[in-house]
Amino acid sequence: MKLVLIGAPAAGKGTQARKLIARYGLAYISTGDMLREEVAKKSELGLNVKSVMASGGLVSDEMIIAIVKERIKEDDCKNGFILDGFPRTVVQAKKLDELIGNIDKAIYINAPDEVMLERITARETCPKCGASYNKIAIPSKVAGICDVCGEKLEQRKDDTLEAGKARLKTFHDQSEPLVEYYNAQGYLFEVDGLKGADNIFNDIAGELGERA
Ligand code: AP5
Repeated sequence: MKLVLIGAPAAGKGTQARKLIARYGLAYISTGDMLREEVAKKSELGLNVKSVMASGGLVSDEMIIAIVKERIKEDDCKNGFILDGFPRTVVQAKKLDELIGNIDKAIYINAPDEVMLERITARETCPKCGASYNKIAIPSKVAGICDVCGEKLEQRKDDTLEAGKARLKTFHDQSEPLVEYYNAQGYLFEVDGLKGADNIFNDIAGELGERA
């Protein structure tokens, strides 16, 4: 099964992706995580994308397509995968069609900007294991420390109010057209991002059924 997750920043794409992997045994491809790893390693790619990511803009289509093209060739993708954060433009979606043919479903987690901005500014993430918390709604047991691995939690560089607003604008301008793109192809499934994470997952699993 080949799934695409679409949604504004902080809509819950990563949260649902982790649940879907556990249920369907798919490979997980998060272009945001891959880019953040490159930034942390200070690789040439990381140095190139650091400032555009921190400001809430998009990395070039050419660069991101090259990364995904290589990633989907890896062994773990043979039984299917979830793309979280790719495609993010119609250019990327058309390229994905060329690379893999049809997807099975594009899951759009729809949620309003005001709530996403609150989630963005309250988010803390673990740089070691990737666990994600919300200082208000889903705090770690010990403030600032990861429940899973004990690492000190961090705020992502693009989780400031200013960068959050820019990311939302980028989503509406460049990524929202994907909703119509996949709707026209009959692959779109829309879920209400304001529901609890478990309820959203139940909606998605209900749509996907038992297929793997
Ligand atoms: P990326 O890492 O993909 O960031 P994003 O799209 O902004 O998404 P987030 O990771 O912020 O949120 P999410 O939807 O995964 O939500 P999460 O589950 O974490 O990309 C970062 C940057 O990389 C981009 O800005 C761009 O510069 C670059 N980039 C990446 N891909 C690219 C591409 N294809 N082309 C060009 N550039 C690219 O949840 C968020 C918070 O909410 C958490 O605290 C969580 O606990 C909480 N939460 C989740 N679900 C719920 C719920 N149902 N109710 C309440 N709280 C919830």
